[in-house]
Amino acid sequence: MISRRGILLGATAAGAAFLLASRSGLAAAGRSANPLRIPPLLEGTAGADGKVYDLNVASGKFEFLSGISTPTLGINGAYLGPTIRCREGDRVTLRVRNSLTEPTTLHWHGLHLPAASDGGPHQVVEPGTVWEASFAIRQKASLCWYHSHLMEQTGEQVLRGLAGLFLIEDEQSKSLRLPSDYGIDDIPLVIQDRRFDADGSFDYDLTMHDVMMGYKGNVILVNGTASPHVVLRRQRTRLRILNGSNSRIYTLGRDDGADLVVIGSDGGLLEQPARMRRVRLGPGERIELLVDMQSDQSVRLMSYPDRVAAGGMGPGMMMGGMAGNSETFPIIELRAEKPESADLSLPERLIQVPNWTAAQAARTRRFSLDMPMMGMGGMMGAAGMGGAMGINGRAMDMGRIDERVSQGSIEIWQIRNTTPLAHPFHIHGVQFRTLDRNGRPPLPHEQGLKDTVMVDPDSTVRVITAFPDFADPKRPYMYHCHILEHEDAGMMGQFVVV
Ligand code: C2O
Ligand code: CU
Ligand code: CU
Repeated sequence: MISRRGILLGATAAGAAFLLASRSGLAAAGRSANPLRIPPLLEGTAGADGKVYDLNVASGKFEFLSGISTPTLGINGAYLGPTIRCREGDRVTLRVRNSLTEPTTLHWHGLHLPAASDGGPHQVVEPGTVWEASFAIRQKASLCWYHSHLMEQTGEQVLRGLAGLFLIEDEQSKSLRLPSDYGIDDIPLVIQDRRFDADGSFDYDLTMHDVMMGYKGNVILVNGTASPHVVLRRQRTRLRILNGSNSRIYTLGRDDGADLVVIGSDGGLLEQPARMRRVRLGPGERIELLVDMQSDQSVRLMSYPDRVAAGGMGPGMMMGGMAGNSETFPIIELRAEKPESADLSLPERLIQVPNWTAAQAARTRRFSLDMPMMGMGGMMGAAGMGGAMGINGRAMDMGRIDERVSQGSIEIWQIRNTTPLAHPFHIHGVQFRTLDRNGRPPLPHEQGLKDTVMVDPDSTVRVITAFPDFADPKRPYMYHCHILEHEDAGMMGQFVVV
């Protein structure tokens, strides 16, 4: 068997565009060598006004590939950050210390909070300073996350390691008796892809191709672990999955052909479990799965070629194929040696998801995602944009408020994608429901609350949400494509609640 190091570095030096684990010989070797790292829990300490969470952003070094040290960024550790855990109703203070020599931010992705606490591009934490975000947790149990959101440098800072999970629990989800023993039968999986230079450092020298198509790595990391496996100690395990990649889309499935049992998405549990052969997960999206295992069983969670990307449609076919997930490769191996037996019954109903209807909406706001160099209309779309990527013909400008939403209103946001690539569209500060995709109902796993939705090439998605509170005419929230290279290149806009 060839060493991972030899394969990876050899391939990088040879300039191979794609070298996923399936081609590196790891799949053939059968077993995934490295035990999965579990990010430590951070539960906060009792302060005068609720729970206080101390987060220190610093640079470090981490060994992703055996014997090779990679310079990284991390939060309370060398790479990634701790899993922040709190409960609905908590008051939290997140105290972010920037120990770097460069500015940064930490944005709480998926959290319903005042714009001043959002941690977006306007809440820069200068080197050597501390920024505090204090707010109440006013949402249901869900897997959210946090990451750097520095203007034009989000892609690079996230790639180097500035991301972590944000777990919210509540009474109702507890009463459903779902697996919730963190790291034991409730396992977080942050999926990312990375490229390494010959000296072991992350390769983030973006070409024009990387900016247009999004950065793709040739090594898959889960919680920072390359070729991971996890030993499951209970018969039933909950996997809480974040696609924390800059741009790669995964189409998840089990290699034993069994269905995935999906119980949750970005904003919490679904109304009922959904059984699906494949689940496509774009950057920024989350999914919660239940996995039942037999004794001595080994199952691999894989990424499979995607119908939209690989099958192609319309003029974008070639680009879609190149940018999408057209390969098959393992994400993680799940091993059950002698699992403790569990109650494998599953409630038919999980929770009640808010059910805003189109008739309640005060208005429909329209967004078009623009890539002037690549649009269906070719260069025509470039007029007035100077060739930059943008939304509604404009590239992101921190000094411009693009949309004003009235507090208390319910709105439909209609997102139109005329480009040949799929874009994951994300809205800050709210959780929405997906009304339809090209007029058709969303897939079962998309029917819960979401904050990020895939908008396929040449398609239109409508989402609906309420903006019940937090009016602040001066401080904007962002909406953007969560392909971080697109976001950094201007595919982002700002809205205020008034
Ligand atoms: Cu996950 Cu604007 O971000
Ligand atoms: Cu966000
Ligand atoms: Cu995009």
